[in-house]
Amino acid sequence: MENSSRRKFLGLCLGGVAAAATGAVIYPVYQYLAPQAGSSSEKKVVIPEKDVPEGEAKFFEFAGASAVLIRTRQGGLIALSAVCTHLGCIVQWEKNKQEFLCPCHGGLYTAEGTVISGPPPKPLAKLPFTVENGNITIG
Ligand code: FES
Repeated sequence: MENSSRRKFLGLCLGGVAAAATGAVIYPVYQYLAPQAGSSSEKKVVIPEKDVPEGEAKFFEFAGASAVLIRTRQGGLIALSAVCTHLGCIVQWEKNKQEFLCPCHGGLYTAEGTVISGPPPKPLAKLPFTVENGNITIG
């Protein structure tokens, strides 16, 4: 009889330890994957037009991820996600070629985000923006 209640007590203790260990593993994973409440996904980013000269790119954070604003040599503006559509590396702006290069596996994109070559399966995502009073508002 005493052995039986000792076993039950030990079983409860082990169950509690196992539940705590499981929670200690799952909670950080959940925190990483779950969208953050009040995250910047609802916020807009404002960048002064003068910060993006012709042929240049300006990287910034948007909705919790890297994004980039490009002013083409013809003066056009483009706002894109800077996250490579292959495996999620951050693309780099190749000013001389006016292209994006992904440093991870050599994916190449045009300034408009279209895939030129390499493993990326789809274009860089375009971001909506407006221009008003010398400011570019993304989002
Ligand atoms: S992650 Fe960009 S090419 Fe692979």
